[in-house]
Amino acid sequence: MQKLIFDLTSLEKTDNLARKIATHLFPGAILLLWGGMGNGKTTFAKSICAGLGILPEIVNSPTYTIVNIYPGNLTVFHVDLYRLTSPEDLDDFDREDLLSFEGVSMIEWPEFILSHLSDCPTLNLSFKTITENHRQLTLESKYTDFDILFNTLEQENLSSLKNVKSLGMVVK
Ligand SMILES: Nc1ncnc2c1ncn2[C@@H]1O[C@H](COP(=O)(O)OP(=O)(O)O)[C@@H](O)[C@H]1O
Ligand SMILES: [Mg+2]
Repeated sequence: MQKLIFDLTSLEKTDNLARKIATHLFPGAILLLWGGMGNGKTTFAKSICAGLGILPEIVNSPTYTIVNIYPGNLTVFHVDLYRLTSPEDLDDFDREDLLSFEGVSMIEWPEFILSHLSDCPTLNLSFKTITENHRQLTLESKYTDFDILFNTLEQENLSSLKNVKSLGMVVK
């Protein structure tokens, strides 16, 4: 299990980190975006898309459409399951309607889709609001597919790894 925690104290920092993460994504990668309303999931998704050559302007929360598909260097499936009330609400969807094998999938409010993910490489991104302009992002994955991403971020010392260690939270 790899885990890193980031303090995103400005929109610029959020944008930089997301674009960096985008450069290490690969076909079939699934990003699960956790956290309550206004914590920055869609903002981060926009910057991931920008990093994949997609105009951020076309990226909007698919709250009513459930899924938006954006063509880019890698096609992005952007899913928002906020309006779902039970896992059965997904019964009307085929797996390939929501998850891309050749592109990247980003899922906001992912709780009800977990049982559909089987052993796909997933990266968990959990957003917390600290203050108005400060978000804390925890990045976690048990899949080695993301090792290069974690190692690069760690080497670049972008995360507040020291704090994490002192809290005894680093699992690696
Ligand atoms: N450091 C930051 N990182 C991300 N968003 C931030 C940050 N500071 C303030 N914000 C603001 O927080 C809001 C997050 O909204 P949004 O991304 O739609 O959240 P969610 O999709 O989680 O509901 C945006 O208005 C954004 O401008
Ligand atoms: Mg959103």
